[in-house]
Amino acid sequence: MKCVDDYRLKFGKQEFVPIMVGGMGVDISTAELALEVARLGGIGHISDAMVKTVADRRFNTKFVKNKLKQYKFNVANADKSVVQFDLGQLAEATKLHVGKTMEAKRGDGLIFVNCMEKLTMNAPKETLRVRMQAALDSGIDGITLAAGLHLGSFALIEDHPRFRDAKLGIIVSSLRALQLFLRKTARSNRLPDYVVVEGPLAGGHLGFGMDWADYDLATIVAEIRQFLLAEKLDIPLIPAGGIFTGSDAAAYLENGAAAVQVATRFTVASECGLPEDVQQEYFKASEDQIEVNQISPTGYPMRMLSNSPAIGDGIRPNCEAYGYLLDAKGNCSYISAYNREVAAHPGAKKVSVKDKTCLCTQMRNFDLWTCGHTTYRLKDTTRKLDDGSYRPLSAEHIFRDYQYSTDNRILLPE
Ligand SMILES: Cc1cc2nc3c(=O)[nH]c(=O)nc-3n(C[C@H](O)[C@H](O)[C@H](O)COP(=O)(O)O)c2cc1C
Repeated sequence: MKCVDDYRLKFGKQEFVPIMVGGMGVDISTAELALEVARLGGIGHISDAMVKTVADRRFNTKFVKNKLKQYKFNVANADKSVVQFDLGQLAEATKLHVGKTMEAKRGDGLIFVNCMEKLTMNAPKETLRVRMQAALDSGIDGITLAAGLHLGSFALIEDHPRFRDAKLGIIVSSLRALQLFLRKTARSNRLPDYVVVEGPLAGGHLGFGMDWADYDLATIVAEIRQFLLAEKLDIPLIPAGGIFTGSDAAAYLENGAAAVQVATRFTVASECGLPEDVQQEYFKASEDQIEVNQISPTGYPMRMLSNSPAIGDGIRPNCEAYGYLLDAKGNCSYISAYNREVAAHPGAKKVSVKDKTCLCTQMRNFDLWTCGHTTYRLKDTTRKLDDGSYRPLSAEHIFRDYQYSTDNRILLPE
């Protein structure tokens, strides 16, 4: 029986272990995790979600504090349109996060950055352009366009000197989304270097409606493969979502996938950004605790543990400090949901907001426990200790298990 290591992901003449660890914002897929994956010969992702917060944490900068100071006068105001990102500082924070990561890179693999379009940041085009350009300036190996259709994203960087040399890919959940993207970007005369096909079992936001359970990854991958063959487009396909064992991965590779993108198994790696007590919640989770709901203000359904502290939490919006989800007019659906509850409960010290969440604050504080559908199987990937807790794993252990395991076996740590 074949294993993942019998295959290679090829970009031109370069070859890689066909394992890509997906981006997990906000700093769940840390630089440390991505660096380890690259060292082992695969493709690791960092994420530029809330990059100022991430830079502050990593480098002791004061981006967030300074932004809050600048806009403090607006905290009680429902209209957030004045709260703009300083593009120079956004570039600086991105260059720190990406640049320092790339400086530390060792080994034969690559490091990409996950760039979500839904982080509209009160000026969608301008901020996305700065984020991508700064990442390219800082030597990132590639950019994965995520959480959005990205119809104009190539155009935002086509004048960049690295536009044709950096690897550029997109995450889609349907053939239709890919077709739209290819049509809109045809002008740039550049195909994506890879396409991640993300099915309905993935973590984070889903590219499906609440009918996600009616879809199936293998079927979508087959449809897209047929289309690419018919159009004679040679673009590596990378399935993602619910690929839990090396054998699951090898089956996709055998069927023509160029690599697989995985994430959930790495949420319990010591190099992952989730605090240890939160990782224990992931280990402990049962299948009925994993839900897909609509509390994300992005409008996309999101998968998470049902005991996430974020659910129902009615904190005051923190857009002056963060504000990553503000649309072009300075709106975020959490702000209106919060204000509605405050108006309905005059004098209450704290309100509960059930239909939406303050995604920036909750993700920043690791209080929204987003996860893939297979999270309930994580307990089978390690050993239970005498005190009842589960032993965290090294990223290397998980990576090697994907790379070499056969027969659906999962290697337990010593
Ligand atoms: C905790 C967590 C956070 C995630 N955050 C993001 C994200 O910020 N952007 C994104 O494009 N995908 C995100 N994803 C999706 C993964 O990158 C990946 O495509 C998917 O989860 C793979 O499926 P698996 O988790 O079943 O292996 C996230 C997944 C998890 C588990």
